[in-house]
Amino acid sequence: MTRPESTREPGPASRRPEEAVRWLEAVTDTALGRLSLEELLSELLVRVRSILGVDTAAILLREGEELVARVAKGLEEEVEAGVRIPIGRGFAGLVASEKRPIFIEDVDHSQVLNPILREKGVRSLLGVPLLFEGGVIGVLHVGTRRRRQFDRQDAQLLQVVADRIALGIEYERLYREAEETSRLKDEFLATISHELRTPLTPILVWVSQLRQRTFDPAHAARALDAIERSARMQARLVDDLLDVSRIIGGKLRLDLRPTELAWVIEAAIEAVRPAAAARDIRIETKLEPRVDVIRGDPERLQQVVWNLLSNAIKFTPEGGRVDVTLQRVDAHLELTVSDTGRGVAPGFLPHLFERFRQADASTTRAHGGLGLGLAIVRHITELHGGTVQAESEGEGKGTTFRVRFPRGVAIRGASEQERAPRGETFARAAPAPLGGLRLLVVDDEPDTCDVLEAVLRGAGAEVRACRSAAEAFAQLEIWWPDVLLCDIAMPGEDGYSLMRRIRAAQGRYGRALGAVALTARTRAEDREKALSAGFQLHVPKPIDGDDLLAVLARVARVAAS
Ligand SMILES: Nc1ncnc2c1ncn2[C@@H]1O[C@H](COP(=O)(O)OP(=O)(O)OP(=O)(O)O)[C@@H](O)[C@H]1O
Ligand SMILES: [Mg+2]
Repeated sequence: MTRPESTREPGPASRRPEEAVRWLEAVTDTALGRLSLEELLSELLVRVRSILGVDTAAILLREGEELVARVAKGLEEEVEAGVRIPIGRGFAGLVASEKRPIFIEDVDHSQVLNPILREKGVRSLLGVPLLFEGGVIGVLHVGTRRRRQFDRQDAQLLQVVADRIALGIEYERLYREAEETSRLKDEFLATISHELRTPLTPILVWVSQLRQRTFDPAHAARALDAIERSARMQARLVDDLLDVSRIIGGKLRLDLRPTELAWVIEAAIEAVRPAAAARDIRIETKLEPRVDVIRGDPERLQQVVWNLLSNAIKFTPEGGRVDVTLQRVDAHLELTVSDTGRGVAPGFLPHLFERFRQADASTTRAHGGLGLGLAIVRHITELHGGTVQAESEGEGKGTTFRVRFPRGVAIRGASEQERAPRGETFARAAPAPLGGLRLLVVDDEPDTCDVLEAVLRGAGAEVRACRSAAEAFAQLEIWWPDVLLCDIAMPGEDGYSLMRRIRAAQGRYGRALGAVALTARTRAEDREKALSAGFQLHVPKPIDGDDLLAVLARVARVAAS
């Protein structure tokens, strides 16, 4: 539509200023009332209508590239019919695109789009844009059945009302958003405290049971398994929270190495096999042989696959199936994880990868978790230059996750030696007895010291434990260990400083010393700091006994060679 022929600027001012102010106050005093937005707008329109002496008043709000009738007086049909006007077309559309008041003296001589205006016999119109921070959020227009020449002051006053209305609408929107954010936050805090407490219950109950009575060995083993499982679960929750906080701070780093995806996938499948077996879920794999080795962080990639598999198992009913494939697709390596489970409702699909978002966050939900897994999956995938998508035909119809890594980063023909050393990263080495090794444990936490001493002695090592860096340094003068197993955060002097002092004095001792930092400080920079202080290995807490023995045996071997 072209510009309406009789459109022109309103005529010269006619009201006295004090009258205008009273008028304005009368119109907008309800703006501060405790009405809902719709009620407020509707009340404003009643006043605009009576004070301006017009027959109709309407507010259209912007939705994308259209204006939608939201509130009207004298033109209620416009709202009921859900009239939509494209921006740039029709009377209201033009007010929006030109962002200024427009006046039509005679509708019959212009191309007004809205049929209801004609049906209601509206003849003259005045419209002003609803502006917020320079953008158009809608249009306010008034109309009369008899022909009328709106003047400039009418337009100015209507614009002032429109500005208030625009503010009201934006505040309402921000308020709703804040309310939603705060609701999500409350929900999340409730979930997190629930999830962190859940594994504590079996731990505490079993521990008190074990203390109170003597169980037969099978029973005791079951209790210990349950304790271990719960502790691991909790450690994973904390890891996930830390990962997400690293992601938010842009601090998640990859340790890139030539990596065989097929191997990463198999390792992740091994890790979830017990959970799948417990629920009678079959895992079928189809991994294309000899796909390229890519540059990646095998542990992080395993986390991606593990999360997808855990979800597939968690959200699939007993007796279901999970299929895992890896293949070359054009320029990509594509990994899919599909399940026959409960699927994802179309409305939730776009939110799947948002952190803390779960289809069911209620207290009665059937599944645990914090809603972090997929956010971590997406971030790690993207750090590798890849993409991840979810597909589901709908609820009850299963879900497929598709992860793609560009083959551009693939390292074709990487030599065997260059490839990720299999046993090192993932396979849990067989418990290695430490017969004859001398180990010095340094940790300010008495419980940790005790349990480490017990585990290491049990493996045949000769162990001494110190509670501080100073004590450890003194101990070295009289008793030289093969390996030092040291905490980092300790009151007084920390593990970094102890290690530096030992390495500086090492020439004087003239003997090899393996050193392992065992610490709850698990960020990449903590690891770098530990290595540069002189530790050979940085091992994040918690670590289980078998892994610890394997690590110590390895470090002792390296130190001795
Ligand atoms: N395979 C799947 N089938 C159906 N729904 C899924 C599947 N995977 C994820 N979802 C939905 O997406 C949500 C987010 O998944 P995500 O892995 O991020 O969190 P979570 O599994 O609930 O908790 P967490 O992974 O932190 O333990 C889930 O709560 C679930 O609603
Ligand atoms: Mg998950």
